Order: sequence, then structure tokens, then C-alpha cells
Amino acid sequence: MGQYYNININKMISAQQTNLPYAKAESWKMFNAISPRYDFLNHLLSFGLDAKWRDQLAAFLPDKEHLDVLDIATGTADVLLSLAKNNPRVTFGTGVDMAEKMLDIGRKKIHEQKLDNRIKLQAADANLLPFGDYSFDVATIAFGIRNVEYPTRVLREMHRVLHRGGRALILEFSMPKNALVRFGHLMYLRMFVPAIGFLVSGHYRAYKYLNQTIESFPSGQVFCNLMKEAGFQNVKANPLLLGVASIYQGDKP
Ligand SMILES: C[S@@+](CC[C@H](N)C(=O)[O-])C[C@H]1O[C@@H](n2cnc3c(N)ncnc32)[C@H](O)[C@@H]1O
Repeated sequence: MGQYYNININKMISAQQTNLPYAKAESWKMFNAISPRYDFLNHLLSFGLDAKWRDQLAAFLPDKEHLDVLDIATGTADVLLSLAKNNPRVTFGTGVDMAEKMLDIGRKKIHEQKLDNRIKLQAADANLLPFGDYSFDVATIAFGIRNVEYPTRVLREMHRVLHRGGRALILEFSMPKNALVRFGHLMYLRMFVPAIGFLVSGHYRAYKYLNQTIESFPSGQVFCNLMKEAGFQNVKANPLLLGVASIYQGDKP
């Protein structure tokens, strides 16, 4: 039953990808192209909320004195910078991403903030993490799982590299349950985001891709089920701002 459900969810996600302006398997190339404007546009389009949401990940860290964190699809390293700056318990952070240009910007920020001894970045594919089983206390991914071709495969990789008792934390856009809020959010995503994205970055398709992937990606209980299928326990969705985004958590038994 579990496997059947998994195959169908993968089929569903793949079908939704056929009309996207960019194939998810190559979304990292798009992020390379928009990297110089990525941080600025993130803050602009979310009215600064993206940074606050990343900061909130810390509230869901497991109760352990020293934490070795892996951040997948780390981009310009904002998750690790937030965790390392605000939480001395985070002793070391490793960030991986396929987009070298995003990583370069991340490395510059890490150096400027004098955190080179606590954070390192490397190029790697979320589908095939170059780490052994049982390597990390926490695996995070922020606004990244929506951009990979097979989210279930990435969830299984997150599960594999975690220690027993380790925790996965996933920050992702979600669809608000309230119909009125959902309507307002969809209007914002469909009209405002591609227009502003184009004006600032010149990449209209990239910001069209953004709203299309947000609308079609599983959220809430459906996403929690994917995490359970990947082997996580104590899975929970924590909605942020009326459900516009969510932090999902799950533990490796
Ligand atoms: C929306 S950005 C999120 C970046 C960062 N986590 C943040 O919070 O700003 C999505 C990132 O996923 C990366 N990505 C896409 N596919 C990937 C893959 N297969 N493996 C690793 N990273 C990938 C992209 O290169 C991009 O940097």
C-alpha cells in the first residue's frame, strides 16, 4: 500500500511538472541564472518574511547539546547562517546545492560573517547525498523540496543520513486552508510575483515557475504522508502565517 501510494504521488508530481517553464530536474540551472538577485527578490517578494521563517526553524531543533546540521538545497546558505548565528548548540553546518553560483554567494556571506569555522558548503545533488548513513543530527531543506524532481527520493536521502533520533525539518510554501486567504494568496502568487520578479531580475519564466510550483506542490497532511512513507515518525506540519508556509518535522526512529 505504502509503495503504491508513493508511486502515485510521484506520478502526480511528475505530471504537474510537464507544463512548467523549467524542468524540476534542472531547476538548479535557473537558480544559477537568477543568483545575483535571488536574496534581494526573496526579501522583497515575501516582505522580509522568508528570513523570519528560516529563523523559526530553530524552535524545532531537537533537544540535544551539540547539533551537526546538514542543509540541503542550501542556495546562498541563509538557513545555516541563521541557525549558526542564533544557536550556539549548532556546532557545525554543512550545506549542499547543485547551483555553484548560489554557493559562491553563500560562501561570501559566511566569510563576511566570520563563520567559516562553523559552516562549509559543497556542490552535491539532493537525490544522491555524498554522506554515509547516520551522519547528522538534523537535516534541513528550505524552499528546496518543491524544486526537485522526486521529493520522496530526497526525503529518503534525508532519512538515510540522519542519526537515530535525528530530525528532519522542512520549510516550504503551502496552501492556506481558509478559502478567502487561499484566494488572496493565489492572486498574489499569480499576478504580483511574476511581474515584480521580471522587473527586478529580467527572468519572467523563473518567477512564473515559482508560483506554478507552489500551487501544485503537496502540502499539509499530504506532505506529512510523504514523510511517513520515507520512514519518519512524529511527523507534524506547523503552519506559518495562516498556512502560507509550513515547517514540517519528522524524527528518524
Ligand atoms: C528556492 S532555492 C532555496 C535556497 C535556500 N534553501 C533558501 O532558503 O533560500 C532552491 C534551491 O534548490 C537547489 N536545487 C534544486 N535542485 C537541486 C538538487 N537536485 N540538489 C541540490 N540542490 C538543488 C537550487 O539550486 C536552489 O538553490
